[in-house]
Amino acid sequence: MFGKIQVSGKVFWTGANDRRKALFENIWPLPEGVAYNSYLLLDEKTALVDTVDFCAGKSFLETVGEYLNGKTLDYLIINHIEPDHSGEVAALLKTYPEVKIVGNVHTKKIFEAYFGAVPNFVDAGKGETIDLGEHRLSFIMTPWIHWPETMMTYDATSKILFSGDAFGSFKAFNGGVFDDEVNPDDYRDEILRYYSNIVGKYSGMVRKAIEKLSGTEIRCICPTHGLIWRADPQRIIDMYDGYSRYEAEEGVVVIFASMYGNTENVADYIARKIAENGVKNIKVHDVSKTHVSYLIRDVWKYRGVVLGSCAYNSEMFPLMEQLCRELEHAGVKNRKLGIFGTFSWSGGGVKNLLKFAENIQWEQVADAVEFKGMPSLEDCARCDAMALAMAQQVIDR
Ligand code: FEO
Repeated sequence: MFGKIQVSGKVFWTGANDRRKALFENIWPLPEGVAYNSYLLLDEKTALVDTVDFCAGKSFLETVGEYLNGKTLDYLIINHIEPDHSGEVAALLKTYPEVKIVGNVHTKKIFEAYFGAVPNFVDAGKGETIDLGEHRLSFIMTPWIHWPETMMTYDATSKILFSGDAFGSFKAFNGGVFDDEVNPDDYRDEILRYYSNIVGKYSGMVRKAIEKLSGTEIRCICPTHGLIWRADPQRIIDMYDGYSRYEAEEGVVVIFASMYGNTENVADYIARKIAENGVKNIKVHDVSKTHVSYLIRDVWKYRGVVLGSCAYNSEMFPLMEQLCRELEHAGVKNRKLGIFGTFSWSGGGVKNLLKFAENIQWEQVADAVEFKGMPSLEDCARCDAMALAMAQQVIDR
């Protein structure tokens, strides 16, 4: 597809671009595709780090075979066994039945569940190192980024870190594969959408992994998805570091659920008032129109969050409920919150958003604004106060 891609010396990229899959994990939209990165070390001994998704693997074995050019594959290192990286494991085992499988005790259990008994298993969790000739590999256990077995592989010779899902992103390659071949800013939104929806729940484990890596010289980061960071690996480490600390930018995301337009009108009103108070980065989203993964991304991105829901069968609107549940699961911290919504004839929207606020422990910048149908002048004045308080809390000073 791309021809030979040399990461460094004897290290090659053997991954795949995927623009066909509509939903990652059958839930997260992929409008810009995704890449599954696999890497081959062609030393005296040979080692493959992860494979690719089954649906993207048509030419995978062929590519690996061409690189090996008659040599056998000595090691298959499984940094992460989720099927988007282990899709070609069964086919690989058929072609190279003597290959040693490198993982840890959790990898072994999951491997057995997916593929049956593990032939020639090397337990990397016991401080094992592998000498390929010139390249010497060691293994760093980084559980829960993003499954229990996830680990990283470090090559002491090239100083490359094969990091698994950590430091990855959505978005297929558009020609450029390395950070110095693209404008990395073009990847920012999809890096954050990937982080916030796939890895974000495990931010505590991301923090531990970054601490574990702190004394390691890293010249290049090779994740399982997205750009290879060889020019500025610290850039993606810093991004993940900030995300895992729930650091946020100056700005506000306003998310509303509205059946007949009253809650939507008030969302626009509040957004306008926040803008009048000097906030330049404001995003307004309709939960019924924008996939929850983008809403979660923007909640991760901005310091201020305003949520509005109409009443729906005495509850909040179902899609707003889904968003709130996901945010609670993700455990996003330190956001400033505003709440509003219509009472209609029974309430439910604001009442349940207040429960959400209590559960997630975000600071409310002002009292929630609930109105019956159309907002009154008094309701608007309370929205003004919320917008002013929000602006005061989120603007960098
Ligand atoms: Fe890319 Fe957790 O799999």
